[in-house]
Amino acid sequence: MSVPPDDLIELVDAALSADYTRVRRIGSKLAKLLNTDNEEAARRLRTLIRQRGVPLRASGYAESLPVDSKSRLPLVEEQAWPTTPAFLDRSGKAVISGFLEDVRNVDLLTAKGIATRLGILLAGPPGTGKTLLAGHIAAQLGRPLYIVRLDSVISSLLGDTAKNVRSVFDFVPARDGVLFLDEIDAVAKLRDDQHELGELKRVVNTVIQGLDSLDDRAIVVAATNHPQLLDPAIWRRFPYKIELGLPDAAVREDLWRHFLMEDDAGSPLPPLLARISSGLSGADIQNIALSARRNAVFEGLPLDAGSVAWAAVETAAGRLSLSERGGLSSERKRSLSISMVRERGLSGADAARLLGVTRQAVSAWLKEDGHGEG
Ligand SMILES: Nc1ncnc2c1ncn2[C@@H]1O[C@H](COP(=O)(O)OP(=O)(O)OP(=O)(O)O)[C@@H](O)[C@H]1O
Ligand SMILES: [Mg+2]
Repeated sequence: MSVPPDDLIELVDAALSADYTRVRRIGSKLAKLLNTDNEEAARRLRTLIRQRGVPLRASGYAESLPVDSKSRLPLVEEQAWPTTPAFLDRSGKAVISGFLEDVRNVDLLTAKGIATRLGILLAGPPGTGKTLLAGHIAAQLGRPLYIVRLDSVISSLLGDTAKNVRSVFDFVPARDGVLFLDEIDAVAKLRDDQHELGELKRVVNTVIQGLDSLDDRAIVVAATNHPQLLDPAIWRRFPYKIELGLPDAAVREDLWRHFLMEDDAGSPLPPLLARISSGLSGADIQNIALSARRNAVFEGLPLDAGSVAWAAVETAAGRLSLSERGGLSSERKRSLSISMVRERGLSGADAARLLGVTRQAVSAWLKEDGHGEG
């Protein structure tokens, strides 16, 4: 029997989402298909389905994650590996590959007495790919990624916070997972609200004790928007650090090419868009690009690069904008071409190409505006 590909995919999807009802339904369908040429296997499959007649979630799939004893909220969540690539600059790539190499060779390094903690800290502004990168690290290593829910870990009951931190630090390495402390500065930010300084110190200390209790092979990724808020004692426990700043021109080009042009290597637009989009995060570029592609689908028209350029320049100037439907008005094209040439250093010819107007039109606008080109 050959399993219909759609059933196979649905089966895997259902199993990974612990959707017992769907698993059973597809299982029964497969048992039927199997029946014609392998009765014995079909029988075994049916028995299996009957025997495992308890919902997967209730049978411990979700409940096996550690929870806070008061709120019953899970302290960690398993996060799926990412499906989109992460673009990094050269130094970021170098840190990641060094880190992965050390993880893969930890036995050798330990035997020689030169292993270091397998902790990596990702710092950078919102939307620069920290969470994404943590997923890629786990995927590269083929290990599950467990995100620590610091909001559930930090319990209203004092003693419980320490207990929670310990159960997280016991659970994840036992599962051979990557422990991901996302927004680790949340610990430091406690200072403002109801928590007093003494309690904050205790939380930081339990996190540090947790980190120190880990085996040499345990992999810890931490992410923060505010590295300066981080306790230096925590900081020191992460020998690998990546400063994920806003993407540089080369990375922006990669991002535009991927999210806007669907990796079309021949498109001339990404380098032009990269030049006018400094100040945007990867998440900004993704948002603008996907909105332009949605518009193109709804309008049944080709991608409107002018509208993308407009949204990029507006967003870079601090006004949140997405690519708009309906194309740019000629007044908007005029002001955009002037700002791209004068403020963002694009040539008149490139501005014309992005806006889909003639080179002469751009020259005329620049002339009207005063000082000609450049
Ligand atoms: N360098 C990048 N390469 C590829 N995609 C990126 C990059 N930066 C951002 N993105 C896109 O933006 C989305 C948001 O990024 P992500 O959630 O990882 O940011 P973050 O740094 O964790 O932000 P926050 O500090 O707000 O949590 C990603 O899912 C990805 O699609
Ligand atoms: Mg994040």
